[in-house]
Amino acid sequence: MVGSGVVLTSLIVLMLAWMQLRPAGPETWTDAEIDILRSLWIESLPPAPRDPSNAVADDPLAAEFGQHLFFEPRLSGTGTISCATCHQPERRFTDGLAKGQGIGMSKRNTPSIIGAAHSPWLYWDGRKDNLWSQALSPLEDPAEHGGKREQYAAFIASESSYREMYEAVFGKFPALSGSPAVDEVFTNIGKSIAAYERLLLPGRSRFDDYVAAVVAGEHKPHAALFSDDEVMGLRLFIGEANCTQCHNGPLMTNHEFHNTGVISFPGEVPDKGRVAGVREVLADPFNCRGEFSDAAVADCAELEFARTGAELIGAFRTPSLRNLENTAPYMHKGQIETLAEVLQHYNEAPLAMIGHNETKPLRLGRRELRQLEAFLDTLSAPPATADKWLTRPTRELAHNGREN
Ligand code: HEC
Ligand code: HEC
Repeated sequence: MVGSGVVLTSLIVLMLAWMQLRPAGPETWTDAEIDILRSLWIESLPPAPRDPSNAVADDPLAAEFGQHLFFEPRLSGTGTISCATCHQPERRFTDGLAKGQGIGMSKRNTPSIIGAAHSPWLYWDGRKDNLWSQALSPLEDPAEHGGKREQYAAFIASESSYREMYEAVFGKFPALSGSPAVDEVFTNIGKSIAAYERLLLPGRSRFDDYVAAVVAGEHKPHAALFSDDEVMGLRLFIGEANCTQCHNGPLMTNHEFHNTGVISFPGEVPDKGRVAGVREVLADPFNCRGEFSDAAVADCAELEFARTGAELIGAFRTPSLRNLENTAPYMHKGQIETLAEVLQHYNEAPLAMIGHNETKPLRLGRRELRQLEAFLDTLSAPPATADKWLTRPTRELAHNGREN
C-alpha cells in the first residue's frame, strides 16, 4: 500500500506538470513569435528617414514656421480652412468623416498624418513622393483650401511676423515679380509644413507595453496588460489571419499598394487607386527629381523603381493601424463604418469591383473576430510629440521660440 501522503504529493506534482504543459496559456510565445512581436513594436521604429528633397526638413525654425502655416486659415481662398480643419490634433490629425470637408468635399477619406514622415509615398494612391509637395496640393485644391499660390506668397510677404519667420529660414524674401519667385515661396511653404509634420510621431500604445513585457521575459505579462481575448487576437493577427502580410513593421504598414476588394459607395465609380497615382507622381513637377527638389537625382531611387502595372488597378496604400480609434470611418473613401465590419470584410474577401482582390476569405468564427477586434483596440496612443506642437501656436510664442 502506498501512503496517502505520497498519493497526494504525486497528484500535486502531476497537476503542476499539467499546468506547465497545457498549451492553453495564451501568453506563451515561441522565440519566432517574439521576433515578430518585436518587429511590430514601437521601440523598433527608427527615426524618420531623411528627406534629401527638403533642405529644411529637420530645421527647428522651419518646423515652427510650418506649425503656424498648418493652423493658418488665411492660407485658403475663403480665409476659413487650414490643414487642421481636416487634420485635427484632438482626433489624432484626422476628422471622423467619411470624406474630408473643406470648401467642398475631398474625394477620399482623411488619413491621420502621425508618422507620415516614414512613408515613401503619400496619399491613398501614393501620388506624392514627399511631404512638402503633398502639402502644396490641398492648398490649391478647389474643394479643400481653394486658394492660389500667388495669394499665399503675397500673404506671407504682407504679414510681418510670417515674413520674419520665412526669412529666418530661407533668407531674404524675394520680390514677387514673376512666377519663379512665387513658385519658390510656395515650395518653401510646403517645405516648412513638412518640417512640422516630421515631428508628429506615433506614441507608445498598450500593445507596446505588452511587447516590452514579453521581450523582457516576464512570465505572465498579459494578466495586467492584455486580456486573454487581446492576446488571442494578437495571435490571429500575426498567425492565421495573416494581417502582417501587409500590416507589418512598427507602423503596421508595409507602405505598399494592395487591392483588398473594398466596395465603392453605391453609384460611385470604383477608384483606380495606385495605377493612376503612380502616373501622377512620375509626372509631378514637385517630385523628388523636379526643379524644386533639393535632392540629387541619385537620391530619388523610390521614384526610379516605382512599380507600375495592371496589378495596381484598385490598389491603395496599406494604412497604419496605429490610430484606429480615430480613423473611422475606414478605408480610402470611408466606406466601412466600424472595425467589426472591416473584419467581416476580410472574413468574406468579396470579389473586387475593379482589379483583383489579393486577400482570401478568412472564415473565422464570431469569437475569433471579436478577439481580433479587441487586439486592434490596443494599438491607439497619443502621438509622441510635445504638447506645444499639438495646438495652434500664438504669435508671441513664435517670437520667444526664435529669440531664445
Ligand atoms: C478638406 C480636408 C483636408 C484639408 C484642408 C487638408 N487635408 Fe490633408 N488630406 C485630406 C484627405 C481627404 C487626404 C487623402 C486624400 C487622398 O489620398 O487622395 C489627405 C491626405 C494628407 C496627407 C497624406 C497622408 C498619408 O498617409 O498618405 C498628408 C501628409 C496631409 N493630408 C497633410 C495635409 C496638409 C499639410 C494640409 C494643409 C496644407 C492638408 N493636409 C489639408 C484632407 C484634407
Ligand atoms: C494584402 C494586404 C492586406 C492584408 C493581408 C490585410 N490588409 Fe488591412 N488594409 C490593406 C489595405 C491596402 C487597406 C486600405 C484599403 C482601401 O482603402 O481600399 C487596408 C485597410 C485596413 C484597415 C482600415 C484602416 C483605416 O484607417 O482606414 C484596417 C482596420 C485593416 N486593414 C486591418 C486589417 C486586418 C485586421 C487584417 C487581417 C485580418 C488585414 N487588415 C489584412 C492591406 C491589407
